Amino acid sequence: MGGSCAQRRPAGLRKVLFLLLLPLFYPALCEPIRYSIPEELAKGSVVGNLAKDLGLSVLDVSARKLRVSAEKLHFSVDAESGDLLVKDRIDREQICKERRRCELQLEAVVENPLNIFHIIVVIEDVNDHAPQFDKKEIHLEIIESASAGARISLDPATDPDININSIKDYKINPNPYFSLMVRVNSDGGKYPELSLEKPLDREEQRSHSLILTALDGGDPPRSATTHIEISVKDANDNPPVFSKDEYRISLSENLPPGSPVLQVTATDQDEGVNAEINYYFRSTAQSTRNMFSLDEKTGVIKNNQSFDFEDVERYTMEVEAKDGGGLSTQCKVIIEILDENDNSPEIVITSLSDQILENSPPGMVVALFKTRDLDFGGNGEVRCNIETDIPFKIYSSSNNYYKLVTDGTLDREQTPEYNVTIVATDRGKPPLSSRRTITLYVTDVNDNAPVFDQASYLVHVAENNPPGVSIAQVSASDPDLGPNGHISYSIVASDLEPSALSSYVSVSAQSGVVFAQRAFDHEQLRAFELTLQARDHGSPALNANVSLRVLVDDLNDNAPRVLYPALGPDGSAFFDMVPRAAEPGYLVTKVVAVDADSGHNAWLSYHVLQASEPGLFSLGL
Ligand SMILES: *[C@@H]1O[C@H](CO)[C@@H](O)[C@H](O)[C@H]1NC(C)=O
Ligand SMILES: *[C@@H]1O[C@H](CO)[C@@H](O)[C@H](O)[C@H]1NC(C)=O
Ligand SMILES: *[C@@H]1O[C@H](CO)[C@@H](O)[C@H](O)[C@H]1NC(C)=O
Repeated sequence: MGGSCAQRRPAGLRKVLFLLLLPLFYPALCEPIRYSIPEELAKGSVVGNLAKDLGLSVLDVSARKLRVSAEKLHFSVDAESGDLLVKDRIDREQICKERRRCELQLEAVVENPLNIFHIIVVIEDVNDHAPQFDKKEIHLEIIESASAGARISLDPATDPDININSIKDYKINPNPYFSLMVRVNSDGGKYPELSLEKPLDREEQRSHSLILTALDGGDPPRSATTHIEISVKDANDNPPVFSKDEYRISLSENLPPGSPVLQVTATDQDEGVNAEINYYFRSTAQSTRNMFSLDEKTGVIKNNQSFDFEDVERYTMEVEAKDGGGLSTQCKVIIEILDENDNSPEIVITSLSDQILENSPPGMVVALFKTRDLDFGGNGEVRCNIETDIPFKIYSSSNNYYKLVTDGTLDREQTPEYNVTIVATDRGKPPLSSRRTITLYVTDVNDNAPVFDQASYLVHVAENNPPGVSIAQVSASDPDLGPNGHISYSIVASDLEPSALSSYVSVSAQSGVVFAQRAFDHEQLRAFELTLQARDHGSPALNANVSLRVLVDDLNDNAPRVLYPALGPDGSAFFDMVPRAAEPGYLVTKVVAVDADSGHNAWLSYHVLQASEPGLFSLGL
């Protein structure tokens, strides 16, 4: 600075003193002359009366050639009045940039004698600048998961003005999501910050448009605005959502394997991978997983095997939809299987007495059986029938239980076994039926007596038979079975002397063959009668009697015997009283002979055999 200043005062007081005392004490204080002007004064504006402030008279101004000088001169001195005038535009911001104190130093020069005075012109800031944002639009991305209270720093606006004219405040348009905080740095700068008031929801509002206003402290304040475009960035905050919480369908059990059955669909309001959904089975029985396949990408469920209502009527499964961000949701799938009439009724014999006594009374229970049909409803309702022309019938005793009972008389000898066919038919459309045949055996009762082949028997036996020869056979039959039909023969009566019976005849118990026990002699026994019995081995036994008449036939086993004339030991009789000259036809004798045989065997004829010698006759019989 130079000059003739001898003393200084504490800086803090300078300005005050200057303002009050300068005109009086200058130049004794040897302080620069200070002026303060706002910037941007019009050219020719008066800064102050320099001449007066230097203690110069108006005349001195021209006489001593008062003038100012500086490196860059913004001022001039009015030659008449000695006023310091603004010569050029003074832009504080250009001259002083951001310096808080903007002073222009210049020297006032007078001659005669030459003296130099220091002048300081303080350039006061004028709010000649509005705040300014770098960009007309600020683009921000905020993740929607950001929580309330989160701060987002914004680029501050700039204002070349200083102090009060610099930026004082920021504002944003009122909105429910954001508020604006203004942070003051240690350097006094003010910085806007967005504060999140409540959580964002991209799915509700994808972007937010705010207007940020920067205000300076001028009077009137100046402002600038910028648009803040906030796009809400997806956080995987949305789990997939199924179109239904529960999918329920009914399927025919005849659906062929591999049929698409159902498609579950979930959507996700997020974006990108956060919205890519895969489907999986969860909390689902392994058997169900085996039955169905789930396409992970499409959610299409197919049946992998054929259904069987009778096995499983209903499948429940949980399907999870999981997005690429790992959020998942589950839905329930219920698949009901509808019954088809695919099962024939089944006949189950629970009890059977397949041996029925032929004398069983009607109504006797022969078998108990039940029917079973795995189908549902009418498909499983069963009726039972048997053929009608057999002596059996069925009664339905209770639900699906039946009795097979006799219905009429049975005769083993006529029908020893029955094949009873039970037909069970359900009420499906078309109906299905099944049949079951049980063979019933009618067991024998000794209800038949033996019956002889003939009502009676008559045999001829030639006399002189050898003892032991069979002379007859009787035969009886018995249709009963086993011992009931096993016959033994015996003689139960005869007209022979009972004690002698066995010495005459016997009968084979097995064969019914009658044997002579001795040779019969017609001359003593011509005929006899036996009562033969056939007896079965039932209990009680039944029998039948038959008569057997035996006629002993004569054999010519006796020679005629001459009763008269009496014959001599040599078999001849001698007649000597026949006259020599007996006439022909003379009766010599009457011969009387007998024969023990009968019939022809006893018919005698007489004739004379050739005379062997004269007078000797042989008589033939
Ligand atoms: C479904 O059936 C196919 C073809 O029969 C078979 O290869 C596959 O393993 C089955 N899937 C399941 C889960 O049983
Ligand atoms: C019963 O059925 C069996 C086996 O088919 C057959 O051998 C038998 O002759 C049948 N009986 C009657 C009385 O039809
Ligand atoms: C057969 O004869 C015996 C002995 O006289 C008698 O007890 C029985 O009752 C007779 N049988 C019949 C079927 O008449």
